[in-house]
Amino acid sequence: MSIRTKLILFILTLLTAISAVTAFLFQHNEWSSISANSQRKNLQILLSMSEVCKEMYRTPDKSSAYKYFKEFLKAPEIIKVSCSGPDGRVFMEDRYYSPYPPPFRYYFKNFSPPNTGTWETCSDNGVEILKASFRARGRTGEITARVDFSTQLIYQEMDSSLRQSSASFFIILSIAFAIGCAGTLIITRVIAGPIQTIEEAARIIGSGQLDHRVPIASKDELGGLAAEFNKMADKLKEYDEMKRDFVSSITHDLRSPVTGIELCSDIILKLAEKRDSARIPEQVFSINEHSQRLKRFIDSMLEVSRIESGKLTLDLKPMNLENLVDRAVRAFRTYAAQKGLKLEFIVAGEIPDVRGDQDRLYQVLANVIGNAVKFTDSGSVSVFIETLPGWQKVRVCDTGAPIPAHELTNIFSKFYRISSGRREYPSARQGTGLGLFIAKYLIELHGGRIEAESGAGGNTFSIFLPS
Ligand SMILES: Nc1ncnc2c1ncn2[C@@H]1O[C@H](COP(=O)(O)OP(=O)(O)O)[C@@H](O)[C@H]1O
Ligand SMILES: [Mg+2]
Repeated sequence: MSIRTKLILFILTLLTAISAVTAFLFQHNEWSSISANSQRKNLQILLSMSEVCKEMYRTPDKSSAYKYFKEFLKAPEIIKVSCSGPDGRVFMEDRYYSPYPPPFRYYFKNFSPPNTGTWETCSDNGVEILKASFRARGRTGEITARVDFSTQLIYQEMDSSLRQSSASFFIILSIAFAIGCAGTLIITRVIAGPIQTIEEAARIIGSGQLDHRVPIASKDELGGLAAEFNKMADKLKEYDEMKRDFVSSITHDLRSPVTGIELCSDIILKLAEKRDSARIPEQVFSINEHSQRLKRFIDSMLEVSRIESGKLTLDLKPMNLENLVDRAVRAFRTYAAQKGLKLEFIVAGEIPDVRGDQDRLYQVLANVIGNAVKFTDSGSVSVFIETLPGWQKVRVCDTGAPIPAHELTNIFSKFYRISSGRREYPSARQGTGLGLFIAKYLIELHGGRIEAESGAGGNTFSIFLPS
């Protein structure tokens, strides 16, 4: 069942329940007020009757009284009217009596007797009668006025008033219900529509069209969901591009050393055929270099898998950080000179020994210094080492293109290279985007931290190791 159908069913059930409760309460209240009105009316009749009786007691000519009586008896529910004097003798009586069996019995529950009279129901020849009497003190003595009402007719009248007011109530209720149903359709469309759009978008993106986005039509939670969904799709696209870049860079990185090795060995073979052994050592050196690059790359990949499986451990020993940095700087002198860069190493004061894994720290330094040389096209790369309270700090500053501020944390992610998708940034040349990821992990394993900053003048990478 779709979410729209569920919503429609839910709201319709709610509407029906509310209508039923409203109808019940209306009927109940209406019936109470109709009974109260009827009771008031009957009491009024009784009081008027008593006035007539008072007037007529002692008056010899009762003809005018009978006129009043006839008027009373015109009311269909009044069956009999009578007056009796203080001695209990009925001195005037009139009745309209056409007995018929009532279709069903009525009970007067809400009727309360007037203070100086009685108010009781009884059955006369199978007809349910409400006998009301009222004693009143007149000028010439106490008289009692009596009126018999047909309860069946009273109830019939009450029923018809209830039916009349109910008819208009139910018309209004039906209109309200119809408006509620129309509102339900609109609400469910408004709620379920965007959800269906997002579902459709998820299907399209899942089928591989990563450029598809959900239009953000509102500022409510559904609009927020659509915006978050689009952000997720953006990230997915970014990761997809990264993956593509990574695969192409891996292919490139693997292909060039392998091609180099192949070419060199071909040449060695040809030279060997010609017995020109004098040029062989140069090619062997080239093979060696290409194999080393290949090995470095494979080592990085293995390192990452060791980090991820938590199997990478350190061999901590006291060591001289200054010597290690010096060694790493020297390893890049030739490369820097080839690029026309000034590479300098500045030591600030006495540097005490630290506890560290020499090979791992060399790996980190070589990557950070190597990056600085690799990504700087002109100017210089300066490496500083200094002692701070509790820390030894190595700072590598270059004069290359500044890393955009929002990329400063990204570059420590696995496989992340800024060149991905941005042509204006100097190409990352050879690289896998693994160096800084591994470096950060290794430095943190030593209890230290690595930070990157960029400014108009270039970039600075700082490595802090606990002393
Ligand atoms: N000194 C630097 N100057 C400019 N960009 C840098 C520098 N160091 C690192 N980066 C950026 O950070 C990315 C990640 O570096 P790294 O993890 O060492 O990978 P790789 O060197 O294999 O590209 C690089 O691809 C480069 O875009
Ligand atoms: Mg690197």
